[in-house]
Amino acid sequence: METLIFDHPILAIESSCDETSAAVVHGRKVLSNIVATQMEMHEKWGGVVPEAAARAHVSAVLPVIQEALDVAKVSIKDIKGIAVTNRPGLVGALSVGVSAAQALAIANQIPLVGIDHLEGHLMAILSLEQELNFPCVSLLVSGGHSELVLIHEQGKYQLLGETRDDAAGEAFDKGARLLGLGYPGGAKIQAAAETGNPRRYSLPKGMEKARYEMSFSGLKTAMLRLVESEGERISIPDAAASLQYAICSALTRRVENAIQDHQPSSISLCGGVAANRSLRKQMLDIAQRHGIECYLPDFSLCTDNAAMVGLAAQCYFSKKRESVPLVSVFPHSELFTFDN
Ligand code: KG4
Ligand code: ZN
Repeated sequence: METLIFDHPILAIESSCDETSAAVVHGRKVLSNIVATQMEMHEKWGGVVPEAAARAHVSAVLPVIQEALDVAKVSIKDIKGIAVTNRPGLVGALSVGVSAAQALAIANQIPLVGIDHLEGHLMAILSLEQELNFPCVSLLVSGGHSELVLIHEQGKYQLLGETRDDAAGEAFDKGARLLGLGYPGGAKIQAAAETGNPRRYSLPKGMEKARYEMSFSGLKTAMLRLVESEGERISIPDAAASLQYAICSALTRRVENAIQDHQPSSISLCGGVAANRSLRKQMLDIAQRHGIECYLPDFSLCTDNAAMVGLAAQCYFSKKRESVPLVSVFPHSELFTFDN
């Protein structure tokens, strides 16, 4: 089936967690993608404080939307559809983006559609300048998610498995903290691992017998023990390389299982952990070995951003799904309705 593309400018808005973002996309083309992060504020308080996140979205949302229109060189009058993340996420944070989207849609009589944040991550692959071949086994890995999804086609998703505790990004972040490498952990672990020996320290890969389910909390405990037992003698590059190896092996093993069970035409990677060079290379190798395609979207479309929300909306606007004037917000995802 051909990829469903809407050949008009769409304004997209994302405010589900700690990034306020707005973008203009036209078909597969991202004309602008503005992201205002609240990371510094939440770092100071040691985590995302929902009320503070919502307030920060309130001050950022209108300037970010204006900047997205300015950079794309379009006016709100040129916009033929508005897409906004309405689930899952912090309800207060989501409401800010949704209220702005509704106000713009009603005032300018533009069709509006609510998008699941996870569908946004999965559909970042639409930005690639090529026809996509489905079914696609997609690994969605970030600080908050580790999900293995079978994309049957645009709009039809099957959850194959997910982590039962920590997300893959969290495992990188916690490991980096234990090694004294700082934040954000993934990039620091990757850098330190470059000269390290991934086989020096044996770390658990979590639920090795499970076909799709994953677990990363044991890694954190094992890292803590390693740091305590090795003390001053620990080799930071070897420990970082061993951690990266354990996380990537746990992830790619599930991808291999899914290829065996479902014979997909392609595999893909999305979410912040998709920045990891070792994981990207392993995904490319797996695809090559099986003679299937591997879709790796640009890093700016892998971390939380609004362009991916506009890309996910392509199939809804192109199918002319009736737009609703009001969009509700939900804390949970309802994306995986496809029967297993
Ligand atoms: O998608 P994202 O920006 O934010 C959310 O979690 O929503 O993902 C951030 C996560 C962090 O856990 C960070 O450590 C991880 O992505 N990350 C990486 C790399 N760059 C970022 N993990 C491994 N290798 C990297 N190069
Ligand atoms: Zn996300």
